[in-house]
Amino acid sequence: MRPKLVVGNWKMNGSRAANASLLTGILEGLADAKAACAVCVPAPYLYQCQDLLQDSPVAWGAQDVSCHPVGAYTGEVCMSMLQDFGCRYVIVGHSERRAYHGETNELVAKKAKAALESGLTPIVCVGETLEQREAGQTMDVVNAQLDAVLELVGPDAVAKLVIAYEPVWAIGTGKTATPAMAQEVHAAVREKLRACNAEAAQTVLVLYGGSMKPDNAADLMAQPDIDGGLIGGAALKAADFLAIIRAAQ
Ligand code: G3P
Repeated sequence: MRPKLVVGNWKMNGSRAANASLLTGILEGLADAKAACAVCVPAPYLYQCQDLLQDSPVAWGAQDVSCHPVGAYTGEVCMSMLQDFGCRYVIVGHSERRAYHGETNELVAKKAKAALESGLTPIVCVGETLEQREAGQTMDVVNAQLDAVLELVGPDAVAKLVIAYEPVWAIGTGKTATPAMAQEVHAAVREKLRACNAEAAQTVLVLYGGSMKPDNAADLMAQPDIDGGLIGGAALKAADFLAIIRAAQ
């Protein structure tokens, strides 16, 4: 039985005051939680996370990273900087970055590899748009996104990945995938991982993201191949985020 992991993706939200209140609220409500949890925050707030969360059960991370080491890459943030702030996770290939910043499968794979080489855990986001789903291309898209990463990092690294299946049409829309729809893709993702490394595929956490809320989290995470959630909007309210963590039994 794989452990559950619930990760909050704050996206481009927060302020030092709001973050302090949110993080304090999460820490105060974690007492009986069984699932692991983390928050991935905008880079300026990594120091605040390190300050408030170290020695706590809540891990933290970033929402993106450069595939380059330090150097002349204006505006980018590299792995060693994330390590400076004690990051455990880094989200790579979020659909919003693929859409707004033209991130390709190959670039996402390079970011995942850089994370692994730096000892961080990449949360590799995959998922289809509504048009792709309606065209029956869901697994073609997801498999291509996974293939780029698996071919670059290799079978020995599979166990160190976290995968997040986020149907783009469910992100921020309130239109959550049904547990059956999500499980179907999660099972196919695990099958893909199994073809690369059968042993590792059994332990890799595959999270669901896309309008996971307190009222649907338990049914989603009760599915055999859904190992937790990558949470957007609901991660910005301590009570909702805690409710999702508690639902991940
Ligand atoms: O990365 C998680 C995010 O894309 C999901 O957002 O608001 O639908 O939970 P939301």
